[in-house]
Amino acid sequence: MYSVTAIAPVRATTALPKGTGLRMLVASYSSYSTSMAPAIGLCQRNNNNHVITKRNTRSISSAKPKSAIKEFFPKVETKQIIEVESGWRHPVYTEEQMKNIQIQHREVRNWSDWVALAMARVLRWGMDTATRYKHPVEGEKFGMTEKHWMNRILFLESVAGVPGMVAGMLRHLRSLRTMKRDNGWIETLLEEAHNERMHLLTFMRIAQPGLFMRLMVLGAQGVYFNGLFLSYLVSPRTCHRFVGYLEEEAVITYTRIIEEIEAGNLPEWAQMDAPEIAVKYWDMPEGHRTMHDLMLYVRADEAKHREVNHTLGNLNQKADPNPYTAIFRDQSKPRPSKGVDLTKPTGWEREEVI
Ligand SMILES: [Fe+2]
Ligand SMILES: [Fe+2]
Repeated sequence: MYSVTAIAPVRATTALPKGTGLRMLVASYSSYSTSMAPAIGLCQRNNNNHVITKRNTRSISSAKPKSAIKEFFPKVETKQIIEVESGWRHPVYTEEQMKNIQIQHREVRNWSDWVALAMARVLRWGMDTATRYKHPVEGEKFGMTEKHWMNRILFLESVAGVPGMVAGMLRHLRSLRTMKRDNGWIETLLEEAHNERMHLLTFMRIAQPGLFMRLMVLGAQGVYFNGLFLSYLVSPRTCHRFVGYLEEEAVITYTRIIEEIEAGNLPEWAQMDAPEIAVKYWDMPEGHRTMHDLMLYVRADEAKHREVNHTLGNLNQKADPNPYTAIFRDQSKPRPSKGVDLTKPTGWEREEVI
């Protein structure tokens, strides 16, 4: 993959006529891709003991060794500003809560669920193909290395941030044009999109994708965004159920990774620390900042998305308030929350919360 991402554009540049836009495009890509030559799974620690991606010393361009990280994470410091902060604070998870997360499946109950499940299965197949995921047959070990898992994670997280934004955007626009309240859905949906983007940025701190993966992400986003946009206009309920089923798959993926780290099958990750961006975002406590811990946090987030989307899929899309931002009359009963202290993997039923 390295030779394709970094060297091929250089060769292509010399073969193109001088002064053409295409040549300039390929040349600029060449410098870009070389500086971001993938080193998935290859990491080292810097002076602050933070994991950084190990640069390939056979770099063929004059790009400075650390330029890749700078491009992905440009410093926000200016004369006046030290750092930017998010308005969304991530809820605190305990280790016990995260370890209690289980793989679960919500059974289909109507035609809308069938459509959602079928679409989720199609996407899962596409993702398996794109990331060359192979599930082991009974009694055999996973053939997936850190690099394979990372490819899958990056692809998964790059598309996972789309539905919340599409749904939030469409509900926002509907509220504007109908001049009616949204009843608290938009905030939860946008926060989910933000959370998924933080997953992506966290893993990008560990490994950056090559050209093939970036093209896959580009194509997938184009298809996925437009598909979801149209689908959400037709049936938002089916879309939330579909995302619920996708999140079930995400929980499965992260559970497999956690099991693989625990079984000693991913030795590089077993001794790696979580990047600083993750420590800050999840407020990871001292002594619980390993890659294994990071996977527990991400899986817990995915389990929350699973619950939220299955719950939203159970509601009247136009009339019902969002139970995750609601203040309930009867506070003595268990209620939906942002944390994972109480999880309902198949979602809260409408009668329980409305
Ligand atoms: Fe995610
Ligand atoms: Fe998710």
